[in-house]
Amino acid sequence: MKRIHLFALSFVVTLGLILPLTLSSADDKKAAEGEAIYKKNCNMCHFPDKADKKLGPGLKDLFKNKELPQSHKPVTEAAVREQIEKGSKAMPAFGKKLSAGEIDSLIEYLKTL
Ligand code: HEC
Repeated sequence: MKRIHLFALSFVVTLGLILPLTLSSADDKKAAEGEAIYKKNCNMCHFPDKADKKLGPGLKDLFKNKELPQSHKPVTEAAVREQIEKGSKAMPAFGKKLSAGEIDSLIEYLKTL
């Protein structure tokens, strides 16, 4: 009886350790994919590691700030997604170039900046 309990307990503990690891590595994987998408599509106009202006505003701390750097709209995932999909005056739209999944990964990466 005691042995079964011990077995069940160690099973639950192991699961509790492994589950968060696999979940966070799924996000990490998306962010890594997003970084590659960023380098190909965004890096020529935006610095990822400082707020200085290149062609567009630097995107460091994008999701840590309260306002978007240019439009001063509140920072939400929806607003960033809209900017990427539709572009703006001097920024091309990526809604047709990137898939919804690629934009998800890109946003996951932008959150790490
Ligand atoms: C050709 C240059 C160019 C490229 C490529 C580009 N951007 Fe931009 N981006 C800009 C400019 C310029 C602005 C400032 C707004 C304007 O003048 O249109 C901007 C603004 C932004 C903003 C701030 C919007 C706001 O409301 O303040 C975000 C976020 C952004 N870009 C993200 C991205 C991402 C992510 C990519 C890659 C998919 C990207 N940009 C690709 C030029 C570019």
